[in-house]
Amino acid sequence: MSDNSSNQMWGGRFAAGPDAIMEAINASIGFDKRLAAQDIAGSRAHAAMLAATGIISDSDAEAIREGLLTVLSEIEGGTFEFSTALEDIHMNVEARLKEVIGEPAGRLHTGRSRNDQVATDFRLWVRDQVDAAESGLLALIRALLVQAEAGADWVMPGFTHLQTAQPVTWGHHMMAYVEMFGRDLSRMRDARARMNESPLGAAALAGTGFPIDRHMTAQALGFDRPMANSLDAVSDRDFALEFLGAASICAMHLSRFAEELVIWSSAQFRFVTLSDRFSTGSSIMPQKKNPDAAELIRAKIGRIFGANVALMMVMKGLPLAYSKDMQEDKEQVFDAADNLMLALAAMEGMVRDMSGNRAQLEAAAASGFSTATDLADWLVRETGLPFRDAHHVTGALVALAEKKGCDLPDLSLSDMQAVNAKITEGIFDVLTVHKSVASRTSYGGTAPEQVRKQVARWKEILA
Ligand code: ARG
Repeated sequence: MSDNSSNQMWGGRFAAGPDAIMEAINASIGFDKRLAAQDIAGSRAHAAMLAATGIISDSDAEAIREGLLTVLSEIEGGTFEFSTALEDIHMNVEARLKEVIGEPAGRLHTGRSRNDQVATDFRLWVRDQVDAAESGLLALIRALLVQAEAGADWVMPGFTHLQTAQPVTWGHHMMAYVEMFGRDLSRMRDARARMNESPLGAAALAGTGFPIDRHMTAQALGFDRPMANSLDAVSDRDFALEFLGAASICAMHLSRFAEELVIWSSAQFRFVTLSDRFSTGSSIMPQKKNPDAAELIRAKIGRIFGANVALMMVMKGLPLAYSKDMQEDKEQVFDAADNLMLALAAMEGMVRDMSGNRAQLEAAAASGFSTATDLADWLVRETGLPFRDAHHVTGALVALAEKKGCDLPDLSLSDMQAVNAKITEGIFDVLTVHKSVASRTSYGGTAPEQVRKQVARWKEILA
């Protein structure tokens, strides 16, 4: 609600208060209250520095720092009354501080601006999200490793174009996601290292004439150093974009895996059984067990990538330094972060609980002429045929099996020899799916021994 008095924090030159619509479009308190803890941490560090540099007295700093803790406990306890007229979290906190401690509160804003304040708060908040994403990714990777180790030698069809290609191992498939989520983890870590510089003390845009110590506040807030350019410090949001970029790629990986779980849990595939804890029923079809968690994870990429695009659009045309457009940086990032964490946790739960249907996986692996490549390779190795010719002979054998309505190992030796006279009994050795996967021993290949090596490597990395 606006009355017609001017703003108590910046209204010195204003005769009248804002229109209600102005207040509604201007206020960010509805969402930036999520930055309360970061805002208060930043202010406490700033107050301590102001006293250490002799800019304010020790007793004022002490009153400010204590008062801020009172305000924080009011916010955390849910008794704090947020005011739209006070626009944002920064002014809400400062105004309440004034009520709690009186006059010294007015000294807190010396040598800083809301511009460096919000940049600092938001960096601290995003940094926490990067840390949360890191824990979520680590938990997911651990769950995948358990699956990979248990099923290092289970055979399943490997697909290209979603058509049966070659047999692979369950462990190998799980480890493919470990690699992807491992890169997501390193992207988060890279982003964290780059964002971990303090904007505080950049003030409005130009720095300040007060003898502040930016190194001291940077250190107090766990930053590696102060940002080196005050214009840059208040006006870039690339740290949030890097987080959203890494989050988008991670969500894309989650979405692909979710898609596989949707397919795999269908009655037609039956590759996995998802737990009741991560499935839902249908209100009309009693037989249904739906993979809703996987479907929702698959859908989350939209809003996370949407946030990335939205913030890019907010930033792309802004001249230096701060513009109010940048207030639009937060909601999308909040939403993206919340949904990324939820998706990571749900995926971890699904992976932890799911059981691969070993027999069904193996049966599926053997169908669809999945060992045709092994047959061609055998022809090259044992008969000296060039690979291109071997490919051709194998194609003819596949066509023959298709005509007879059987799989490759079901063809008789004489059937095979009618296609190529050099074929011997030995060919049947390579046509089983277990032989097939066991033979793929190249580094990074699907052979159980290779999978176990990769599991061991990751366990070492995580130890
Ligand atoms: N609520 C503002 C934001 O989120 C804080 C910074 C306001 N700065 C200003 N000069 N009006 O960006």
